Amino acid sequence: MTLHTVSELLSNNNILPEVEIKGWVRTFRANRFIALNDGSTINNIQCVVDFEKTDETILKRITTGAAIHIKGELVESQGKGQKVEIIVKSLVILGDSDPETYPIQPKKHSFEFLRENAHLRTRTNTFSAVMRLRSALSFAVHKYFNDHGFFYMHAPIITGSDAEGAGEMFRVSNLDAKNPPLTEQGAVDYSKDFFGKETNLTVSGQLEAETYAMSLGKVYTFGPTFRAENSNTSRHLAEFWMIEPEVAFMDLAGNMDLAEDFLKYVLKYVLTHNREDLDFLESRLLDEEKTKPQAERSEMSLIEKLDFVIDNNFKRVSYTEAIDILRNSTPNKKKKFKYIINEWGTDLQSEHERFLVEKHFKCPVILFDYPANIKAFYMRLNEDGKTVRAMDILFPGIGEMVGGSQREERLEVLKEKMAALDIDENELWWYLDLRKYGTAVHSGFGLGFERLVMFATGMTNIRDVIPFPRTPQNAEF
Ligand code: 4AD
Ligand code: MG
Repeated sequence: MTLHTVSELLSNNNILPEVEIKGWVRTFRANRFIALNDGSTINNIQCVVDFEKTDETILKRITTGAAIHIKGELVESQGKGQKVEIIVKSLVILGDSDPETYPIQPKKHSFEFLRENAHLRTRTNTFSAVMRLRSALSFAVHKYFNDHGFFYMHAPIITGSDAEGAGEMFRVSNLDAKNPPLTEQGAVDYSKDFFGKETNLTVSGQLEAETYAMSLGKVYTFGPTFRAENSNTSRHLAEFWMIEPEVAFMDLAGNMDLAEDFLKYVLKYVLTHNREDLDFLESRLLDEEKTKPQAERSEMSLIEKLDFVIDNNFKRVSYTEAIDILRNSTPNKKKKFKYIINEWGTDLQSEHERFLVEKHFKCPVILFDYPANIKAFYMRLNEDGKTVRAMDILFPGIGEMVGGSQREERLEVLKEKMAALDIDENELWWYLDLRKYGTAVHSGFGLGFERLVMFATGMTNIRDVIPFPRTPQNAEF
């Protein structure tokens, strides 16, 4: 007999004389009813034990968290709450779980507590649902690109360049940190380092993806990226996964179309394929909303939010238009923005982004044509000489979901830009080669996968949508 999964058995409409299942006990009630979960679905299967025929010592070992092996008969359930249940014929304890010390009790735990037990938190309904959705979303990412003629490219994790020019990198080195070799001038001598130069963990696979776009046409990367930015917020991780498509012969307008179509596709994918998990998370959020004062409650439920994004066009607004709106607005009648935008050219703060998305337009917004001075060196300069073909996609409750641009394809303009920013041409000679040999218009974007998972699951802290979060002062597990 092959092992069944809970998911299979619950969707089985026929009774089965012989079933076999392994899983973890969620609860054991009245010495009779085991709620068993094996991770295959949010739902538990009820297993009914005949306590009169079962050894007392075994009954005592059916505790929350224990791993068990059950053989029995799948029958129509006599009780309410489930269609089918298993009448247990044989039960073996595979792994005990001491109820005195097991951290995951059958009660509501705070997310803070569960973060400290990240190795066990997927044994709860909420985290198992979130991580199944994370898995489904990543499958949908690959499916979308594969169905649209993109090739998957693996960008390197260790690089010698700083793609974003923001200096927020983790150094990779095998030098003795306490006693590094020094140059005659007394600086650390990186020529003695493993790679013979300074290297770091990648902040983005974009520059490498550009090289592949300029040969394979349509490519994407999807891998871990690292930022040593010291921002302890609910939207930043030091290690996060980024999806970065890059397409030759595509301009900024095409880039916006691609990003919007892609986002709608992956959200629709989970709405269609992961409905049980989404329904569970939606009801969890509705319960949470009830504890808030009326004025603070969300206007839409989780599923309504997802449907809304799928069914409506994203609003496309230039930076200049956005600044005009912000200058003539206040977040509410009494309050001004904390940070007042006086001049064209200042970067937007998250309070401004939130205002545009959540109060003004009330839908996802694509902001484009940003001032050149607040964006990265590789973005295509517009004919006005002061804005670049950049786009950020802002989402309600999340803020920046996507950052992308058309790339500067003109060798001379790119060189000037790099010189102005003190970026060494010798470091990026290979990147400049793309502009020397067969250069062409090309564009791409980066989407923070965890921010997408946050939006799809309604989770409000980025630490709760990645298995083992890496944040300042925290790399437990
Ligand atoms: O806007 P960013 O910095 O853009 C780039 O890295 C470009 N090279 C992408 C490209 O054009 N190929 O980052 C892209 C996205 C952000 O919009 C955000 O969603 C996410 O990555 N992101 C983070 N997510 C979690 N934690 C962080 N510390 C993040 N930093 C950026
Ligand atoms: Mg950005």
